[in-house]
Amino acid sequence: MIATGGAPREVLTVVADEFAATTAALIGDAMRAAVSARGKCRIVLAGGRTPAAVYRVLAADATVSWGQVSAFIGDERCVPPDHAESNYRMINDTLLSAVTMEEDRIFRLRGELGGAAAAAEYDAMLDALGGEPKFDIVLSGVGADGHTASLFPGDPMVDQATGWAMRSVAPAAFAISDRVGLTLRALNSTRLQVVLCTSDDKKPVRQRIFSGAADAALLPAARLSGTERTVWVVDPD
Ligand code: 6PG
Repeated sequence: MIATGGAPREVLTVVADEFAATTAALIGDAMRAAVSARGKCRIVLAGGRTPAAVYRVLAADATVSWGQVSAFIGDERCVPPDHAESNYRMINDTLLSAVTMEEDRIFRLRGELGGAAAAAEYDAMLDALGGEPKFDIVLSGVGADGHTASLFPGDPMVDQATGWAMRSVAPAAFAISDRVGLTLRALNSTRLQVVLCTSDDKKPVRQRIFSGAADAALLPAARLSGTERTVWVVDPD
């Protein structure tokens, strides 16, 4: 078990048909618990493709009091919000446009500003946002290379970044290189960390991370944790 400094890793194994409903129930429960405990819920939403099905189920959960929810974005590709590669566009299409939330409680990462400017803006906003941990729930994805959000293996800033948001450059294999996203410090400033790691192409990196191999410990995804719970949602081996 790789020590992440947070709550120990729990593994929730789900078959494909149950993935969206099971994950949405886990998140919905945590959102309700946050609102009843603190009168509000701060959630960081992940980009990529995997969360889309979860968001559609969550959007239909009428027992979540969306009026008390603040939504943040884990990372963004530096494109306009209506661009096909925009994480905000996916999140808005599958969730935010389907629920009733205060406009000023949706904290979009303005990728269209470019990585550096968007990071500075989001960092200042998060810095001004009191309370630690910053978030009640962070939803994170994982890439087959072990990246999460826009934290890529080998990027020294993954360790050096001390703020809440940073610019990064995705490897050549990715469509959009200019990225902005939360730092590891910000992603781990949460009570509940939910890591989505399903699909065959991610099994090798997941097995390496779970094996405790020293090199895997350095992968950004391996370093995700929550202060109360760290839950990896995976598919059967
Ligand atoms: C992004 C994401 C990224 C994503 C992983 C997994 O901007 O692409 O934040 O970190 O979570 O690449 O992506 P999939 O869910 O599409 O496999």
